[in-house]
Amino acid sequence: MSPAVVPNSKLPIKDTRSGQSQGIVSKNVEPVSSARIISFEHEYGAHNYHPLPVVFESAKGAKAVNQGHCHPRIVATLVSQAQKLTLSSRAFYNSTFGVYAKYITELFGYESVLPMNTGAEAVETAVKLARKWAMSTDPESRTGFGPYLQNVGPTYTYGEEQRTIRYNHIEDLEEALSIHGKNTAAFLVEPIQGEAGIVVPDDGYLARVHSLCKKHNVLLICDEIQTGLCRTGKMLACEYDNVRPDIVLLGKALSGGVYPVSAVLADKHIMHVIQPGEHGSTYGGNPLGCAVSITALQVLQDENLAARAVRLGEHFRTKIRALNHPLVATVRGKGLLNAVVIDESKSMSGRTAWQFCLLLKSRGVLAKPTHVNIIRFAPPLVISEEDLDRAIHIIGQCLNDLDKIEDIPGDVLSEKGHRDTITN
Ligand SMILES: Cc1ncc(COP(=O)(O)O)c(C=O)c1O
Repeated sequence: MSPAVVPNSKLPIKDTRSGQSQGIVSKNVEPVSSARIISFEHEYGAHNYHPLPVVFESAKGAKAVNQGHCHPRIVATLVSQAQKLTLSSRAFYNSTFGVYAKYITELFGYESVLPMNTGAEAVETAVKLARKWAMSTDPESRTGFGPYLQNVGPTYTYGEEQRTIRYNHIEDLEEALSIHGKNTAAFLVEPIQGEAGIVVPDDGYLARVHSLCKKHNVLLICDEIQTGLCRTGKMLACEYDNVRPDIVLLGKALSGGVYPVSAVLADKHIMHVIQPGEHGSTYGGNPLGCAVSITALQVLQDENLAARAVRLGEHFRTKIRALNHPLVATVRGKGLLNAVVIDESKSMSGRTAWQFCLLLKSRGVLAKPTHVNIIRFAPPLVISEEDLDRAIHIIGQCLNDLDKIEDIPGDVLSEKGHRDTITN
Protein backbone atom coordinates (compact mmCIF):
# COMPACT_ATOMS: atom_id res chain seq x y z
CA MET A 1 0.00 0.00 0.00
CA SER A 2 1.33 3.37 -0.80
CA PRO A 3 1.72 6.08 1.74
CA ALA A 4 -1.05 8.49 2.35
CA VAL A 5 -1.57 10.87 5.18
CA VAL A 6 -4.87 10.14 6.77
CA PRO A 7 -5.84 12.59 9.49
CA ASN A 8 -7.47 10.66 12.32
CA SER A 9 -10.47 12.94 12.34
CA LYS A 10 -11.53 11.80 8.87
CA LEU A 11 -10.09 8.33 8.71
CA PRO A 12 -11.44 6.68 5.56
CA ILE A 13 -10.20 3.38 6.91
CA LYS A 14 -12.10 0.49 8.35
CA ASP A 15 -10.32 -1.12 11.23
CA THR A 16 -8.31 -4.17 10.61
CA ARG A 17 -8.23 -7.66 12.02
CA SER A 18 -10.24 -6.93 15.11
CA GLY A 19 -13.52 -7.42 13.27
CA GLN A 20 -14.81 -4.41 15.24
CA SER A 21 -15.61 -2.21 12.30
CA GLN A 22 -19.02 -1.53 10.85
CA GLY A 23 -17.74 -2.84 7.56
CA ILE A 24 -18.29 -1.67 4.06
CA VAL A 25 -21.84 -0.92 3.08
CA SER A 26 -23.03 -0.47 -0.45
CA LYS A 27 -26.55 -0.66 -1.80
CA ASN A 28 -26.86 -4.19 -3.03
CA VAL A 29 -24.09 -5.87 -1.16
CA GLU A 30 -24.16 -7.29 2.35
CA PRO A 31 -21.90 -5.33 4.69
CA VAL A 32 -18.59 -7.11 5.08
CA SER A 33 -16.24 -6.37 7.95
CA SER A 34 -12.69 -5.31 7.21
CA ALA A 35 -11.41 -8.40 8.97
CA ARG A 36 -13.39 -10.57 6.57
CA ILE A 37 -12.25 -8.58 3.56
CA ILE A 38 -8.66 -9.15 4.61
CA SER A 39 -9.33 -12.86 5.11
CA PHE A 40 -11.07 -13.13 1.70
CA GLU A 41 -8.10 -11.55 0.00
CA HIS A 42 -5.73 -13.85 1.80
CA GLU A 43 -7.82 -16.94 1.05
CA TYR A 44 -8.80 -16.27 -2.56
CA GLY A 45 -6.18 -13.87 -3.88
CA ALA A 46 -2.66 -14.68 -5.03
CA HIS A 47 -0.12 -13.82 -2.35
CA ASN A 48 1.81 -11.39 -4.51
CA TYR A 49 1.54 -8.56 -1.96
CA HIS A 50 1.95 -8.31 1.79
CA PRO A 51 -0.36 -5.39 2.62
CA LEU A 52 -0.52 -3.51 5.88
CA PRO A 53 -3.75 -4.52 7.62
CA VAL A 54 -5.78 -1.55 6.42
CA VAL A 55 -8.82 -1.58 4.13
CA PHE A 56 -9.49 1.41 1.87
CA GLU A 57 -13.06 2.22 1.05
CA SER A 58 -12.44 5.82 0.07
CA ALA A 59 -9.20 7.72 0.10
CA LYS A 60 -7.57 11.09 -0.26
CA GLY A 61 -4.27 10.03 -1.73
CA ALA A 62 -1.88 7.34 -2.77
CA LYS A 63 1.47 7.39 -4.47
CA ALA A 64 0.14 6.62 -7.93
CA VAL A 65 -2.13 9.61 -7.50
CA ASN A 66 0.07 12.67 -7.85
CA GLN A 67 -3.06 14.75 -8.44
CA GLY A 68 -4.71 13.49 -5.24
CA HIS A 69 -7.23 10.72 -5.04
CA CYS A 70 -10.48 11.21 -7.00
CA HIS A 71 -9.54 14.68 -8.26
CA PRO A 72 -12.91 16.27 -9.15
CA ARG A 73 -11.81 17.47 -12.60
CA ILE A 74 -10.44 14.06 -13.54
CA VAL A 75 -13.48 12.25 -12.19
CA ALA A 76 -15.75 14.66 -14.10
CA THR A 77 -13.91 13.82 -17.33
CA LEU A 78 -14.16 10.11 -16.53
CA VAL A 79 -17.90 10.35 -16.00
CA SER A 80 -18.67 12.49 -19.02
CA GLN A 81 -16.51 10.41 -21.37
CA ALA A 82 -17.96 7.18 -19.92
CA GLN A 83 -21.40 8.39 -20.92
CA LYS A 84 -20.29 8.91 -24.53
CA LEU A 85 -17.80 6.23 -25.53
CA THR A 86 -15.46 4.04 -23.52
CA LEU A 87 -13.96 1.54 -25.91
CA SER A 88 -13.68 1.38 -29.63
CA SER A 89 -11.33 -0.98 -31.33
CA ARG A 90 -8.19 0.65 -32.71
CA ALA A 91 -9.27 -1.05 -35.90
CA PHE A 92 -11.27 2.17 -36.22
CA TYR A 93 -10.62 5.75 -35.24
CA ASN A 94 -12.04 7.25 -32.08
CA SER A 95 -12.52 10.95 -31.51
CA THR A 96 -10.19 11.11 -28.49
CA PHE A 97 -6.98 9.22 -29.26
CA GLY A 98 -5.74 11.59 -31.97
CA VAL A 99 -6.35 14.63 -29.79
CA TYR A 100 -4.59 12.93 -26.88
CA ALA A 101 -1.65 11.85 -29.03
CA LYS A 102 -1.14 15.44 -30.23
CA TYR A 103 -1.46 16.79 -26.70
CA ILE A 104 0.93 14.40 -24.94
CA THR A 105 3.60 14.43 -27.64
CA GLU A 106 3.64 18.23 -27.78
CA LEU A 107 3.75 18.45 -24.01
CA PHE A 108 6.77 16.18 -23.71
CA GLY A 109 8.45 17.13 -26.98
CA TYR A 110 8.34 13.76 -28.73
CA GLU A 111 7.01 12.96 -32.17
CA SER A 112 4.96 9.91 -31.37
CA VAL A 113 3.14 8.05 -28.60
CA LEU A 114 2.24 4.41 -28.26
CA PRO A 115 -0.56 4.10 -25.70
CA MET A 116 -0.76 1.14 -23.36
CA ASN A 117 -2.53 0.46 -20.08
CA THR A 118 -0.17 -0.47 -17.27
CA GLY A 119 3.41 0.44 -16.49
CA ALA A 120 4.52 -3.14 -17.00
CA GLU A 121 3.11 -3.08 -20.53
CA ALA A 122 4.88 0.19 -21.28
CA VAL A 123 8.18 -1.38 -20.22
CA GLU A 124 7.56 -4.49 -22.32
CA THR A 125 6.59 -2.32 -25.28
CA ALA A 126 9.78 -0.29 -24.99
CA VAL A 127 11.93 -3.43 -24.87
CA LYS A 128 10.20 -4.78 -27.96
CA LEU A 129 10.50 -1.43 -29.72
CA ALA A 130 14.20 -1.13 -28.92
CA ARG A 131 14.97 -4.66 -30.10
CA LYS A 132 13.08 -4.12 -33.30
CA TRP A 133 14.84 -0.78 -33.80
CA ALA A 134 18.24 -2.40 -33.28
CA MET A 135 17.46 -5.16 -35.73
CA SER A 136 16.24 -2.80 -38.37
CA THR A 137 19.23 -0.45 -38.09
CA ASP A 138 21.83 -3.17 -38.12
CA PRO A 139 21.07 -5.95 -40.64
CA GLU A 140 24.00 -7.98 -39.30
CA SER A 141 22.33 -8.44 -35.98
CA ARG A 142 19.24 -10.01 -37.48
CA THR A 143 20.91 -13.38 -37.37
CA GLY A 144 21.30 -15.00 -33.99
CA PHE A 145 19.17 -12.29 -32.35
CA GLY A 146 17.07 -13.86 -29.68
CA PRO A 147 15.23 -15.90 -28.63
CA TYR A 148 13.28 -13.17 -26.90
CA LEU A 149 14.05 -12.43 -23.28
CA GLN A 150 17.53 -13.83 -23.56
CA ASN A 151 20.07 -11.08 -23.06
CA VAL A 152 17.52 -8.80 -21.47
CA GLY A 153 18.67 -7.60 -18.08
CA PRO A 154 21.38 -5.75 -16.22
CA THR A 155 24.14 -8.33 -16.75
CA TYR A 156 26.87 -8.84 -19.33
CA THR A 157 29.61 -11.32 -19.94
CA TYR A 158 33.22 -10.42 -19.33
CA GLY A 159 35.21 -13.35 -20.68
CA GLU A 160 33.82 -16.33 -18.78
CA GLU A 161 32.45 -14.12 -16.06
CA GLN A 162 28.89 -12.83 -15.72
CA ARG A 163 28.91 -9.24 -14.42
CA THR A 164 26.14 -6.94 -13.26
CA ILE A 165 25.65 -3.36 -14.34
CA ARG A 166 25.19 -1.74 -10.95
CA TYR A 167 22.97 1.32 -10.65
CA ASN A 168 24.93 4.56 -10.29
CA HIS A 169 28.21 2.84 -11.25
CA ILE A 170 28.91 4.44 -14.60
CA GLU A 171 32.10 2.38 -14.97
CA ASP A 172 29.97 -0.80 -15.20
CA LEU A 173 27.94 0.52 -18.11
CA GLU A 174 31.10 1.84 -19.71
CA GLU A 175 32.69 -1.61 -19.57
CA ALA A 176 29.53 -3.43 -20.69
CA LEU A 177 29.08 -1.15 -23.69
CA SER A 178 32.74 -1.18 -24.61
CA ILE A 179 32.47 -4.97 -24.96
CA HIS A 180 28.87 -5.42 -26.12
CA GLY A 181 27.79 -1.96 -27.36
CA LYS A 182 27.58 -3.11 -30.95
CA ASN A 183 25.00 -5.76 -30.05
CA THR A 184 23.10 -3.73 -27.49
CA ALA A 185 19.74 -2.24 -28.42
CA ALA A 186 18.96 -0.14 -25.38
CA PHE A 187 19.73 0.73 -21.79
CA LEU A 188 16.62 1.00 -19.65
CA VAL A 189 16.93 2.90 -16.39
CA GLU A 190 14.90 4.73 -13.77
CA PRO A 191 16.20 8.26 -13.09
CA ILE A 192 15.62 7.43 -9.41
CA GLN A 193 15.06 3.81 -8.49
CA GLY A 194 11.64 3.53 -6.87
CA GLU A 195 10.83 0.01 -5.73
CA ALA A 196 14.51 -0.62 -5.06
CA GLY A 197 14.25 1.89 -2.22
CA ILE A 198 14.29 5.44 -3.63
CA VAL A 199 17.90 5.21 -4.74
CA VAL A 200 18.98 8.66 -5.94
CA PRO A 201 22.02 8.47 -8.23
CA ASP A 202 24.84 11.01 -8.18
CA ASP A 203 24.25 14.26 -10.03
CA GLY A 204 25.33 13.76 -13.62
CA TYR A 205 24.95 9.95 -13.63
CA LEU A 206 22.11 10.03 -16.13
CA ALA A 207 23.93 12.56 -18.31
CA ARG A 208 26.93 10.25 -18.47
CA VAL A 209 24.67 7.28 -19.21
CA HIS A 210 23.16 9.33 -22.01
CA SER A 211 26.49 10.18 -23.61
CA LEU A 212 27.67 6.56 -23.37
CA CYS A 213 24.46 5.45 -25.07
CA LYS A 214 24.98 8.04 -27.81
CA LYS A 215 28.59 6.94 -28.30
CA HIS A 216 27.55 3.30 -28.81
CA ASN A 217 24.33 4.00 -30.73
CA VAL A 218 22.30 2.45 -27.93
CA LEU A 219 18.83 3.77 -27.13
CA LEU A 220 18.34 5.33 -23.72
CA ILE A 221 14.97 4.38 -22.26
CA CYS A 222 13.94 6.23 -19.11
CA ASP A 223 11.31 4.54 -17.02
CA GLU A 224 9.53 7.56 -15.56
CA ILE A 225 6.51 5.57 -14.47
CA GLN A 226 7.19 6.37 -10.83
CA THR A 227 9.48 9.40 -11.09
CA GLY A 228 7.64 11.28 -13.83
CA LEU A 229 4.71 13.66 -13.87
CA CYS A 230 5.94 16.10 -11.21
CA ARG A 231 6.59 13.49 -8.53
CA THR A 232 10.25 14.47 -8.15
CA GLY A 233 9.69 18.17 -8.79
CA LYS A 234 10.00 18.17 -12.59
CA MET A 235 7.65 16.95 -15.28
CA LEU A 236 10.30 14.28 -15.93
CA ALA A 237 13.04 13.44 -13.44
CA CYS A 238 15.60 13.15 -16.26
CA GLU A 239 15.30 16.94 -16.67
CA TYR A 240 17.51 17.27 -13.58
CA ASP A 241 20.40 16.02 -15.73
CA ASN A 242 19.22 17.83 -18.87
CA VAL A 243 18.76 14.50 -20.57
CA ARG A 244 16.29 13.85 -23.36
CA PRO A 245 15.96 10.06 -23.50
CA ASP A 246 15.23 8.32 -26.79
CA ILE A 247 12.22 6.65 -25.21
CA VAL A 248 10.22 7.77 -22.16
CA LEU A 249 7.79 5.56 -20.26
CA LEU A 250 4.89 7.01 -18.32
CA GLY A 251 2.15 5.42 -16.24
CA LYS A 252 0.61 5.66 -12.77
CA ALA A 253 -0.30 9.38 -12.44
CA LEU A 254 -0.86 9.63 -16.20
CA SER A 255 -4.51 8.97 -15.40
CA GLY A 256 -4.63 10.53 -11.92
CA GLY A 257 -5.30 7.05 -10.55
CA VAL A 258 -8.80 6.64 -11.94
CA TYR A 259 -8.02 4.31 -14.84
CA PRO A 260 -5.01 2.34 -16.11
CA VAL A 261 -3.17 4.43 -18.70
CA SER A 262 0.48 4.19 -19.70
CA ALA A 263 2.46 5.59 -22.60
CA VAL A 264 5.63 5.09 -24.58
CA LEU A 265 7.03 8.29 -26.10
CA ALA A 266 9.64 8.34 -28.84
CA ASP A 267 10.50 10.04 -32.10
CA LYS A 268 9.23 8.62 -35.38
CA HIS A 269 12.52 7.12 -36.57
CA ILE A 270 12.27 4.82 -33.55
CA MET A 271 8.51 4.42 -33.14
CA HIS A 272 7.80 3.68 -36.76
CA VAL A 273 9.74 0.44 -36.74
CA ILE A 274 6.50 -0.95 -35.33
CA GLN A 275 4.11 -1.65 -38.17
CA PRO A 276 0.35 -2.23 -38.10
CA GLY A 277 -0.49 -5.56 -36.54
CA GLU A 278 2.80 -5.92 -34.70
CA HIS A 279 1.85 -4.53 -31.31
CA GLY A 280 -1.84 -4.25 -30.48
CA SER A 281 -3.68 -3.59 -27.26
CA THR A 282 -7.44 -3.82 -26.84
CA TYR A 283 -7.59 -1.03 -24.31
CA GLY A 284 -4.48 0.97 -25.25
CA GLY A 285 -5.59 4.34 -26.62
CA ASN A 286 -9.22 3.84 -25.66
CA PRO A 287 -11.36 7.01 -25.50
CA LEU A 288 -11.94 6.81 -21.76
CA GLY A 289 -8.24 6.52 -20.93
CA CYS A 290 -7.25 9.23 -23.41
CA ALA A 291 -9.80 11.75 -22.14
CA VAL A 292 -8.87 11.08 -18.53
CA SER A 293 -5.18 11.38 -19.29
CA ILE A 294 -5.51 14.80 -20.95
CA THR A 295 -7.24 16.16 -17.85
CA ALA A 296 -4.75 14.46 -15.52
CA LEU A 297 -1.88 16.16 -17.38
CA GLN A 298 -3.67 19.51 -17.35
CA VAL A 299 -4.21 19.28 -13.60
CA LEU A 300 -0.49 18.72 -13.03
CA GLN A 301 0.28 21.95 -14.88
CA ASP A 302 -2.66 24.08 -13.75
CA GLU A 303 -1.98 23.32 -10.09
CA ASN A 304 1.80 23.80 -10.41
CA LEU A 305 2.38 20.42 -8.81
CA ALA A 306 6.05 20.22 -9.80
CA ALA A 307 6.92 23.35 -7.84
CA ARG A 308 4.80 22.13 -4.97
CA ALA A 309 6.64 18.81 -4.90
CA VAL A 310 9.99 20.63 -4.73
CA ARG A 311 8.92 22.87 -1.87
CA LEU A 312 7.14 20.25 0.23
CA GLY A 313 9.79 17.62 -0.43
CA GLU A 314 12.55 19.88 0.87
CA HIS A 315 10.42 20.68 3.87
CA PHE A 316 9.86 16.97 4.58
CA ARG A 317 13.53 15.98 4.32
CA THR A 318 14.72 18.96 6.37
CA LYS A 319 12.24 18.28 9.16
CA ILE A 320 12.87 14.54 9.36
CA ARG A 321 16.65 15.07 9.34
CA ALA A 322 16.25 17.67 12.07
CA LEU A 323 14.68 15.03 14.31
CA ASN A 324 18.20 13.64 14.45
CA HIS A 325 16.78 10.34 15.61
CA PRO A 326 19.10 7.35 16.08
CA LEU A 327 16.58 5.03 14.39
CA VAL A 328 16.83 7.08 11.19
CA ALA A 329 19.89 6.01 9.23
CA THR A 330 19.24 8.35 6.34
CA VAL A 331 16.61 10.44 4.57
CA ARG A 332 16.83 10.76 0.82
CA GLY A 333 14.77 11.63 -2.20
CA LYS A 334 13.77 14.34 -4.63
CA GLY A 335 10.53 16.28 -4.64
CA LEU A 336 7.87 14.22 -2.92
CA LEU A 337 9.50 10.86 -3.61
CA ASN A 338 11.38 10.21 -0.41
CA ALA A 339 12.68 7.40 1.72
CA VAL A 340 13.39 7.21 5.41
CA VAL A 341 15.84 4.40 6.04
CA ILE A 342 15.38 2.82 9.45
CA ASP A 343 18.42 1.47 11.27
CA GLU A 344 16.73 -1.58 12.78
CA SER A 345 19.89 -2.45 14.73
CA LYS A 346 19.32 0.70 16.83
CA SER A 347 16.00 -0.60 18.14
CA MET A 348 16.61 -1.73 21.74
CA SER A 349 13.64 -4.09 21.59
CA GLY A 350 14.47 -5.56 18.18
CA ARG A 351 11.60 -3.83 16.43
CA THR A 352 11.52 -3.68 12.66
CA ALA A 353 10.58 -1.13 10.01
CA TRP A 354 7.41 -3.17 9.43
CA GLN A 355 6.40 -2.66 13.06
CA PHE A 356 7.24 1.03 12.72
CA CYS A 357 4.81 1.20 9.78
CA LEU A 358 2.14 -0.54 11.85
CA LEU A 359 2.62 2.07 14.55
CA LEU A 360 2.42 4.87 11.99
CA LYS A 361 -0.74 3.31 10.62
CA SER A 362 -2.35 3.17 14.03
CA ARG A 363 -1.83 6.94 14.26
CA GLY A 364 -3.08 7.81 10.79
CA VAL A 365 -0.01 7.78 8.53
CA LEU A 366 0.17 5.07 5.91
CA ALA A 367 3.55 4.05 4.56
CA LYS A 368 5.18 0.74 3.82
CA PRO A 369 8.74 -0.50 3.50
CA THR A 370 9.81 -0.81 -0.12
CA HIS A 371 12.80 -2.89 0.80
CA VAL A 372 13.12 -4.39 4.28
CA ASN A 373 13.98 -1.21 6.22
CA ILE A 374 13.47 1.52 3.64
CA ILE A 375 10.16 3.32 4.06
CA ARG A 376 8.87 5.22 1.09
CA PHE A 377 6.95 8.43 1.68
CA ALA A 378 5.24 9.56 -1.50
CA PRO A 379 2.05 11.41 -0.60
CA PRO A 380 -0.16 12.97 -3.24
CA LEU A 381 1.40 16.19 -4.48
CA VAL A 382 -1.71 18.12 -3.49
CA ILE A 383 -1.13 17.35 0.19
CA SER A 384 -1.55 20.44 2.35
CA GLU A 385 1.40 21.72 4.32
CA GLU A 386 -0.64 21.20 7.52
CA ASP A 387 -1.23 17.53 6.71
CA LEU A 388 2.43 17.09 5.85
CA ASP A 389 3.46 18.70 9.13
CA ARG A 390 1.01 16.49 10.98
CA ALA A 391 2.55 13.43 9.31
CA ILE A 392 6.06 14.62 10.19
CA HIS A 393 4.97 15.11 13.79
CA ILE A 394 3.48 11.59 13.93
CA ILE A 395 6.63 10.12 12.36
CA GLY A 396 8.68 11.81 15.10
CA GLN A 397 6.38 10.54 17.84
CA CYS A 398 6.40 7.00 16.44
CA LEU A 399 10.19 7.00 16.27
CA ASN A 400 10.26 8.00 19.94
CA ASP A 401 7.64 5.45 20.93
CA LEU A 402 8.73 2.45 18.87
CA ASP A 403 10.86 0.98 21.64
CA LYS A 404 8.70 2.20 24.50
CA ILE A 405 5.26 1.04 23.50
CA GLU A 406 4.25 -2.42 24.70
CA ASP A 407 1.72 -3.44 22.06
CA ILE A 408 1.69 -2.13 18.54
CA PRO A 409 -1.84 -2.24 17.15
CA GLY A 410 -2.06 -4.74 14.28
CA ASP A 411 1.16 -6.50 15.26
CA VAL A 412 -0.45 -9.94 15.21
CA LEU A 413 1.38 -12.85 16.79
CA SER A 414 1.79 -14.70 13.50
CA GLU A 415 3.73 -11.75 12.12
CA LYS A 416 5.77 -10.73 15.16
CA GLY A 417 9.09 -9.42 13.97
CA HIS A 418 8.00 -9.58 10.33
CA ARG A 419 10.56 -8.07 8.00
CA ASP A 420 9.12 -6.94 4.73
CA THR A 421 11.49 -8.30 2.15
CA ILE A 422 9.25 -7.77 -0.84
CA THR A 423 8.65 -4.48 -2.58
CA ASN A 424 5.29 -2.79 -3.17
C1 LIG B 1 9.43 2.38 -12.23
C2 LIG B 1 8.25 1.47 -12.47
N1 LIG B 1 8.10 0.88 -13.69
C3 LIG B 1 7.06 0.07 -13.94
C4 LIG B 1 6.12 -0.22 -12.97
C5 LIG B 1 4.98 -1.14 -13.29
O1 LIG B 1 3.79 -0.39 -13.36
P1 LIG B 1 2.37 -1.13 -13.26
O2 LIG B 1 2.23 -1.59 -11.85
O3 LIG B 1 1.37 -0.08 -13.64
O4 LIG B 1 2.39 -2.27 -14.23
C6 LIG B 1 6.24 0.35 -11.70
C7 LIG B 1 5.27 0.05 -10.63
O5 LIG B 1 5.44 0.32 -9.48
C8 LIG B 1 7.34 1.22 -11.44
O6 LIG B 1 7.50 1.81 -10.25
